[in-house]
Parts: sequence; structure tokens; C-alpha cells
Amino acid sequence: MPWKAIGIFDSGVGGLTVLKEIIKALPQEDTIYFGDTARVPYGTKSPETVTRYSLEIASFLVHRDIKLLVVACNTASACALEALQQTLSIPVVGVIEPGARRAASVTRSGKIGVIGTEGTIRSSAYAKAIKRINPEVEVVTRACPLFVPLAEEGWTDNEVAHLTARIYLTGLREAGVDTLVLGCTHYPLLKRVIGETIGEDVKLVDSAEETARTVAEILRGRDLLRPSSEQGNHHYFVSDVPAGFIRVGNRFLGGRLGDVYQVSLDAEKG
Ligand code: DGL
Repeated sequence: MPWKAIGIFDSGVGGLTVLKEIIKALPQEDTIYFGDTARVPYGTKSPETVTRYSLEIASFLVHRDIKLLVVACNTASACALEALQQTLSIPVVGVIEPGARRAASVTRSGKIGVIGTEGTIRSSAYAKAIKRINPEVEVVTRACPLFVPLAEEGWTDNEVAHLTARIYLTGLREAGVDTLVLGCTHYPLLKRVIGETIGEDVKLVDSAEETARTVAEILRGRDLLRPSSEQGNHHYFVSDVPAGFIRVGNRFLGGRLGDVYQVSLDAEKG
């Protein structure tokens, strides 16, 4: 029996930070990544639109016979996870539940900050997930939309990044959070600036790392892990011309991407 791949999608390059952690945790697994570069960003769009896009991408990946789907986009996880789980017969893992679980377990003061796109923050998905785990915890949130273009531009440690971080994070620091969830695929690239601004004593929770751990647990639990002696292959599909994805993606992945193919989801439907 050939081993099936893990399917992963995001609105664009951001989900490569999640893929990176999955490859680190499970180097033996094949992966198929889809970046919706023709329709990025998702963070500013309505939940209905993000759900429709997510279902289209899921259908594309399921046709490639994946064994598990990772929604490697916080906005899509916030808006579309339920619809995906109801529609698909394979396990679907979002990035919010794992990040929320980790945050709830590391906080000491019971005051957690969450930052993300406008869509993610508006949905209150992190706050709800954290409160489901521990209703006593106080959750303070802040949308930080400008962190997305800064990360893509590679402006992760210059004056603009520091000033932006100060403006976004001062309120959270003053609120006294002891844990901060990086609730957007792009924010791990700004970890240093975010950490310095919010205060070194505040614990940063990277949803990507937690999600990779969850994927490993689910595959192990279902006996779907490839033998660790294998070496995984990684395939990339995008919905717009690949040049920009490749340029920015190599930085997000922290290594070299393989071949990237442009596909049209409309053609797939027809
Ligand atoms: N991938 C998105 C997220 O994690 C950020 C980029 C976008 O807005 O599409 O929410």
C-alpha cells in the first residue's frame, strides 16, 4: 500500500511556517501544499468567502488522495474549520485549537494575549477555544494586520518593524498578559521584535509548532505514520504565477522549495 501524503493549505506563503514545523516533526512524510496566491489575503475577507475558498482548495487536495488536511492559515481555521470537518471524511487539523491548548497550559497569571489578522480576531475563535479549556482565563486580543506585509517584505528587524510592534503591542503589555499567542502564519518571522516589545518574560506561543505536534499525534493514533526510515517528498501548488511565492517562500520555509506548479481551481471544478 503506498503511503498517502499530508495536505496543507494557506492563503499564500504563510502556511510554509506550519509546513516547516511539520517537516521538522515528521521528516518521513510526503506533503502537498496549496497556497492560494491569486486570492490572498484572507485576513480582510468575510467568513463566507474564506469558507468558500477553503472548501474549493480542500476538494483539490482530497482529489490528490491525502490522508489528513492541515488548515495552515489562522483565518481559514477561524472561519472554515467546522465546514471542512463536516464535509471531509479525513481528519482536518486547524491551527487554532493547538495554539489555544498550549497557551492555556503555559499561562500562570491567567491573562493571555492573542494577536492575528482582522478576520481571526473578529471571529473570537482563539478566545472561545481558550475559554472552552479554561473559562477562568482572561483573553486580550489585538489585530495586527501590518505584520503580514512586513514579514513578506523581510522587514522583520528594522525600525518600521519595531515601531509597528510598539504601536500594536503596548496595550497588551499594559494589560499584563504573561502569554502571547502568535495567531497568524506570518508572525513567527517577527518573533524577535514581538518578544522584545512585549517583554522577555512573556511566553510566546507559536501555533505552527503546536499544530505539527497535533498532526503527529493524530497520525500515530490512527497508525497512519510512515516508517521513520523513509524520506518525505514535498509538492507545491499555487493559484497565481509562482515567482513571488518562490522568492518569499524560501525565507518562510527556511530552506529551498522544490518545484512549484500553478493550477486553476476553476479548471479542477470543470
Ligand atoms: N495566512 C493568514 C493567517 O494566518 C495571513 C495572511 C492572510 O491574511 O491571508 O491568518
